[in-house]
Amino acid sequence: MTAPARPSGAVLGLGMIGRHHARILQSHPDLRFAGAVDPTGDRYGAVHDPSRLFGTLDELLEHDRPDFAVVAVPTEEHLPAVRALAAAGVHVLVEKPLAASGAQARELIAVVRDAGLRGAVGHVERCNPALLDLRRRLRAGQLGDVFSITTTRVGPFPDRIRDVGVVKDLATHDLDIVRWIGGAPVQRVSAEVEHRAGREHEDLVLAVGRLTSGTTFACTVDWLSPAKVRRTRVLGERGMLVADTLAADLTFHANGEASTDWAPIQQFRGVSEGDTTHYALERREPLLVELETFAAFAMGDDEAEVVTLEEGLEAVAVAEAALDSAQRGETVQCGP
Ligand SMILES: NC(=O)c1ccc[n+]([C@@H]2O[C@H](COP(=O)([O-])OP(=O)(O)OC[C@H]3O[C@@H](n4cnc5c(N)ncnc54)[C@H](O)[C@@H]3O)[C@@H](O)[C@H]2O)c1
Repeated sequence: MTAPARPSGAVLGLGMIGRHHARILQSHPDLRFAGAVDPTGDRYGAVHDPSRLFGTLDELLEHDRPDFAVVAVPTEEHLPAVRALAAAGVHVLVEKPLAASGAQARELIAVVRDAGLRGAVGHVERCNPALLDLRRRLRAGQLGDVFSITTTRVGPFPDRIRDVGVVKDLATHDLDIVRWIGGAPVQRVSAEVEHRAGREHEDLVLAVGRLTSGTTFACTVDWLSPAKVRRTRVLGERGMLVADTLAADLTFHANGEASTDWAPIQQFRGVSEGDTTHYALERREPLLVELETFAAFAMGDDEAEVVTLEEGLEAVAVAEAALDSAQRGETVQCGP
């Protein structure tokens, strides 16, 4: 069977993130927008043609069966949405986190596999130009031996998230980044959480751990900060790379070669502070790159670098290990 000239995509859930998927699908020259489903309507006015807006998936399918669908419903709803799409033979790009629990994530993977369909997870940070370039530089050996990967993802609470806490909703980004950048699975994790804003789930986590490669990591993630920060810092033998994924900026702080005999400077700044380089990057919208890549994958391109469902499960499983660690006050081993 030959792939359609313009793969068609639908969006389930026209909320905060679904509206952006809909925007891109409607404007991309190589993709076709089949429609969007949201029982509460189109609160952000994302769909241009009202005849492409549906209250149920069945209504959409009666109108037009898409090649793939983006699952952008609340996390607890991912599994039922994927079940319904798989029954209709539609490939799925599932927003992160893959599911609300490891058990649901495993079931979701089985549903997609048993239907003979293709699926991937929307860990959109992997399409951020700053992180892509950081990873490329690490692989090329720019830092030499990597000592640690630390991430910061903090900001105010997005009022809409009710079904999961900050560990599953936000820290899954970081746990995926750490694993992807570090190139090895998480071996163990230790975490502390806080519940400070009166919600059922935790709103702050400090997680530290080690990858099976030996690299250490630390993630600071919360919904309690008055300013939004999205930063990944990799420290290695020859210096430090810092990615700001809000601005898509990447900076390299090299270890200095020069030494000084000026004692106060030596003491205060350290002798190894070297040149700082701010890289000029080609900046494409990460969500657009994610959709293009997934559409190619869904249409049979095995080279398309999507985040696999198994990688999505891994992030959820490590998030659960972090919650377990926080509850038990112990370091938790993360096995396969
Ligand atoms: N990749 C990212 O950076 C990113 C950013 C935000 C959210 N997300 C993820 O996307 C998902 C949605 O988050 P959000 O912030 O957009 O939530 P949201 O609450 O803003 O939107 C969810 C929408 O889904 C609709 N919905 C509920 N059940 C549905 C169903 N069965 N069929 C169709 N629509 C349904 C709701 O009416 C709502 O409009 C979550 O899993 C979240 O973790 C990812």
